[in-house]
Parts: sequence; C-alpha cells; structure tokens
Amino acid sequence: MAQQILKLRTLEDVIRVRQACVRLAVELGLDGSDRRRVATAAGEIARNVLQHSGDLGEVALEEIDDGTRRGIQIVVRDQGRGIADVVANSSAVASASVISLGAGLAGAKWLMDTFEIDTAIGRGTTVRMVKWQSSNVSP
Ligand SMILES: Nc1ncnc2c1ncn2[C@@H]1O[C@H](COP(=O)(O)OP(=O)(O)OP(=O)(O)O)[C@@H](O)[C@H]1O
Ligand SMILES: [Mg+2]
Repeated sequence: MAQQILKLRTLEDVIRVRQACVRLAVELGLDGSDRRRVATAAGEIARNVLQHSGDLGEVALEEIDDGTRRGIQIVVRDQGRGIADVVANSSAVASASVISLGAGLAGAKWLMDTFEIDTAIGRGTTVRMVKWQSSNVSP
C-alpha cells in the first residue's frame, strides 16, 4: 500500500493514527499483541506532538521491506520546539539509548523494533519507528 499521511491537529487525529496503524498491521499479518504495540507507540508519539511541540505535525505510515521481511514504518514529525533533553544528551540524531525521559518516549522505544529521534531546538522533532513481521508469519 502507498504511504499514508495523517495530519495531526486534534486528539481525534491521534485516534485516527492508532486506527490506521492497526489496519496496516492487520494487512501485514501482525498478531494482536504487535498491533497493540504499534498503535500504542504511534499514539504516544503523535500525542506528544500536540501536547509538547507547540506546532501541528503529521504522521507518515507505510509498509517497508528489508529484502527478507516486511514491516510497518511510522514517521511522526513536527516543526515545533524540539526536545531539549534529547539534544542536550546527544548529537543531532539521538540514538534512543540516551533517552531517559517520560513514559511516552521510553514506552514507544520499548514497544517497537526500531526507534530513532532526530530533534533540534526550535526546528522540530522527527521520530521514526518500525515494527517487523515476526519470522513465523507467512508472507
Ligand atoms: N514532539 C515533541 N516536541 C517537543 N518536546 C517533546 C516532544 N515529544 C516529547 N517532548 C518532550 O519530552 C518529554 C518526554 O515525553 P514523553 O512522552 O516521554 O513524556 P510526557 O509526554 O511528558 O508524559 P506521558 O507521555 O507519560 O504523558 C515531554 O515532557 C516533552 O518535554
Ligand atoms: Mg508523552
């Protein structure tokens, strides 16, 4: 399926992001636990945009393929204030290991297979997350 872009303006958009994640996760054959993980992580990171960035933002959802398996990629971006604690603790592209922030960021990192943050003060934040199909799922 082509990339889907969902705009973040209100908390209802966060619900739509969660629903779109579940739909894509079902298409990819992810089990119920992984569907919930993906929806929860995406919802938390999308909610952060509305609560903390001072800006609106958007979510790009798509299926990706690394040659051996398929996965769901979620990119959440805003052009708001950036995450000072992440910037203070790392170079521009933070590896998630340096993050010891609230439950939202730490929880999303824990729920997903890949979790990367690129944030700059005054310029915004991009979070990229991936959940891969587990190896026992037939294509
Ligand atoms: N998109 C963002 N733009 C600016 N700051 C952000 C953004 N996302 C997170 N932050 C900052 O990082 C902190 C930690 O976020 P996290 O989601 O981990 O916790 P929280 O939102 O404070 O609490 P919770 O998610 O548990 O309700 C936030 O308090 C905020 O200062
Ligand atoms: Mg949060």
